[in-house]
Amino acid sequence: MRIAVISDIHANLEAFTAVLENMQIKNVHACVCLGDVVGYGAEPEPVLQLLWENKIPSILGNHEEAVYDDDILHYFNPQAKKTALLTRKMLKPESVERIKKWPVNIEFHGALGVHGFPPDSIHKYLFEADQGAISRMWDSVPYKLCFVGHTHNLDLVAFDGHNVITYPLLEGGWLLDNRKTIVNVGSVGQPRDGDNNAKYVIWDTKMNALTICYVPYNIQKAADKILKAGFPEINARRLY
Ligand SMILES: [Fe+2]
Repeated sequence: MRIAVISDIHANLEAFTAVLENMQIKNVHACVCLGDVVGYGAEPEPVLQLLWENKIPSILGNHEEAVYDDDILHYFNPQAKKTALLTRKMLKPESVERIKKWPVNIEFHGALGVHGFPPDSIHKYLFEADQGAISRMWDSVPYKLCFVGHTHNLDLVAFDGHNVITYPLLEGGWLLDNRKTIVNVGSVGQPRDGDNNAKYVIWDTKMNALTICYVPYNIQKAADKILKAGFPEINARRLY
């Protein structure tokens, strides 16, 4: 089975559409989304509708929380706060109600998906966890493979029971081994890794292998929509 794991679409309809088309070429059988479907981009409602049309299950990201929980806004910088408030205005009330019911993590094919850090943190970044924290996490998490998003970077953190080793994930294939592994799948719609493609990961459960996909899309169109909708200019600039 080939399962696409996507995250951090961030209301970027152009990037999400390109990724969905790419999944068809790559013979993907199922897809799971690790949150931050909204925020930063110009089209939160159409992106949510497309997610639901494609029956893609999603879990909560911090930008979903910001849609309905005022307390979260205290942790946002002024531009992220402005973005969240504008995003709220663009969402249908019934969509907000659906988002509120999203879980904080998801199990699929014996793996665990969470937005920030296993087993259930929406907010903790993978890079905040030192070797001790990662080792302790694996003591209590009964999975061998976890997928996360949130940092908008792609990397893989392997633990052999003694050592924690982090590898960058670049475009192409990656064979998983016997180590316990966290896969950070990057961002569909707001890259922060110096490469402006939309990115996602396919997990081939039979081969126990990953395919890291870089997908070009119409960045200019997405950026223009962000500016036209009145979002902070940095939301558009970050796409390049
Ligand atoms: Fe995000």
